[in-house]
Amino acid sequence: MARKNKEGNMPNAHLHELFVDELKDILGAEKQLLKGLKKLSAAANSDTLKKAFETHYEQTEGHIERLKSVFSSLDMTARGKKCKAMEGLLNEADEILEEFQDSPEVLDAALIAAAQKVEHYEIASYGCLVTYARLMEHSEAEGLLASTLEEEKETDVLLTEIAMSEANVGQSAD
Ligand SMILES: [Fe+2]
Ligand SMILES: [Fe+2]
Repeated sequence: MARKNKEGNMPNAHLHELFVDELKDILGAEKQLLKGLKKLSAAANSDTLKKAFETHYEQTEGHIERLKSVFSSLDMTARGKKCKAMEGLLNEADEILEEFQDSPEVLDAALIAAAQKVEHYEIASYGCLVTYARLMEHSEAEGLLASTLEEEKETDVLLTEIAMSEANVGQSAD
């Protein structure tokens, strides 16, 4: 039933090519991010932050699986492409890590900033994809993409909470 709207038999078919292109972009981005999250969790000082990065690594593996299911719901083979935006965000994360690695009191704040930029990119991407899926009545894809969008938003909120509660709060010298 969820599969009924294929090309030629769906509303807003003009969006289909864009939808597929953006799906390939975010699949590539998620795969690139796995490596980035490993670096972030290895660098984090706070155990809470480390744990948050590890949890999001596992969620990211789930996001890749969901994207594969989205492609199969469209009767397509999952194929990602290199995401230049994610590449740039992760390059900046590397830079910031290098710059602040000898300043533990500020490093976690810098890692959170890098990670939240990534999350906002993902939130924008999945937000658009959910909209396209809805407009084309790809309901199975819409449900899968909306689940990932929620997890990206939750991660962003969690990172803000960590920033407010410990990572960015100056520590007394003892
Ligand atoms: Fe993700
Ligand atoms: Fe994410």
